[in-house]
Amino acid sequence: MLTLKKKTSELLADAITQKFGEGLVSPDELFRMLEYPPDSTMGDLALPCFRLSRVLRRSPVQIAEALAAKVKCAEFSAVTAVNGYLNFKISPTDFAKRVASDVTKGGEKYGSSMRGVGKTVVLDYSSPNVAKPFHIGHLGTTVIGHSLKLLHEFDGYSCVGINYIGDWGTQFGKLIVAYKLWGNREQIEKGGVDELVKLYVRINNAIKDEEIASQNGNPDAPKHSDLGDASRAEFARLEAGDEKNLALWRWFVSVSLLEYEKTYKQLGIEFDSYKGESFYTDKMPAQVEKLRNMGLLEIDDGASIVNLDKWNMPVCLILKSDGTTLYPTRDIAAAVYRQDTYKFDKAIYVTSAAQTLHFAQWFKVVELMGYEWYDRLVHVPYGTVSINGAKLATRTGNVILLKDLFAEAISRVAEITREKHPDEAECMEIAEKVGVGAVVFYYLSNNRMRDINFIMEDALSFDGNTGPYVQYTYARTCSVLERAGTTGEMTDAPLGELEFTLAKTLALFPEKVAQAIDEYEPSVVTRYILDLAADFNRFYHECKILSCEDEALKSSRIALTSATNRVLKTALRLICMQSPEKI
Ligand code: ARG
Repeated sequence: MLTLKKKTSELLADAITQKFGEGLVSPDELFRMLEYPPDSTMGDLALPCFRLSRVLRRSPVQIAEALAAKVKCAEFSAVTAVNGYLNFKISPTDFAKRVASDVTKGGEKYGSSMRGVGKTVVLDYSSPNVAKPFHIGHLGTTVIGHSLKLLHEFDGYSCVGINYIGDWGTQFGKLIVAYKLWGNREQIEKGGVDELVKLYVRINNAIKDEEIASQNGNPDAPKHSDLGDASRAEFARLEAGDEKNLALWRWFVSVSLLEYEKTYKQLGIEFDSYKGESFYTDKMPAQVEKLRNMGLLEIDDGASIVNLDKWNMPVCLILKSDGTTLYPTRDIAAAVYRQDTYKFDKAIYVTSAAQTLHFAQWFKVVELMGYEWYDRLVHVPYGTVSINGAKLATRTGNVILLKDLFAEAISRVAEITREKHPDEAECMEIAEKVGVGAVVFYYLSNNRMRDINFIMEDALSFDGNTGPYVQYTYARTCSVLERAGTTGEMTDAPLGELEFTLAKTLALFPEKVAQAIDEYEPSVVTRYILDLAADFNRFYHECKILSCEDEALKSSRIALTSATNRVLKTALRLICMQSPEKI
């Protein structure tokens, strides 16, 4: 559609020049004015002429009528003026032919506008905290982040995916104490991150118990915990470079990463960098120095802060009163490092909406520091996830892990798949693609800011707007093409309304991709996939494809099936989904 819209806006610009004079409206402006009428009996494309009234100094009705007589092109079967609208009716056969040929020519790249060539985007996403559970709250950052990476890559950007793992902080002091008290090396080697989480939960509970006990029944009395003190001491030793603690820390990190990798593999995610928070330890002082030299730091209760009153935000904490650095300090140092290293045109951070203020604050600090790239920083927030209505509680260990969520989806799909695919290896391969895909699709079906209540039955259902349903539709296109033994070719056989609708939806793909990128919203692609699947299934059920007697028409229908197959595969890939050929 994009191509036709472009062409139409150029034709319109010419017509306006001829009728009304030069330099009045540009093709770009006209492009933005063109609409898809909700009711296609009015036309397939329309120009609301009231938008031109002022510049052209005529009534919308006069403008529409003047232009209707002037604009002609082979793809339009009629151009009519109706109540101040200029309506374009597309001729289905020519149009479908062009779209199918665009898809074939574009191949894997069909849908890309290559707007990002020569530009670099760094994306910071997933970024779990080591030795804390990798739970369903991370689903958003992981799949939105990766989908945005794939979308940008598709559009020609060179992308750097960064897993900014939370591998530094006081939790390591706690973990070291817990490990020394209760830990067991073999158990952790076998049980992985789950064992670390158990230790972490245990020490947190123990610290809380000590604190409560120290208050002697008086809730207003000061709290104290020996284990808390011991944890801070171990962290201080770690920060000072104590070799024993460093070795433990390295081990905790690698055990955790090994575990995350399994989930990433199921999702087909690979990162380009794993530089986590610890990497920036020696890069913060220079930024703190710069802030101080610029007079941006104020001392508040012993802490060093940047005052953001003028921008209606609370202060941004840079150093605690004991001189230790904070989350914003590290983010500032990391952003400077990434700009120096990658010269990014855009740096995208995907986190829960709970961190929106944090990003707004340190983005402002970066601006105040005079970094001219401050406006290339983008925070992409998303809403909360609950499962069957239950919210998460991280500290108590009452969480649903991402890997368990996927495992459950996979095993449920396997039960159904086994009937059709008794070979266990084949069954599990399909079940993994469909199970993981179901979770991802369900999640990415909503606008990212919406809070989501995850219901497994709904996600796994084969009838409904689900992952399994669209993967099944894809498999259906594969089966038709396999039986056809050819990818078909568009002929001049006249096409009906269903084929035309399908062709129009295929033609919308490039616009949807661009919209998903511009709005940082993968759900635009998810919803597009549902539209395309629905249009294809209607066509499949009502038009004979392989049994069509008219050979020319059959060929066109196979070609439309091929184009659908191609676009579904690309679109599914862009939202981190696999497309199995058989289900
Ligand atoms: N590790 C953090 C968390 O789990 C997310 C990090 C997001 N990225 C960043 N550059 N701050 O909450």
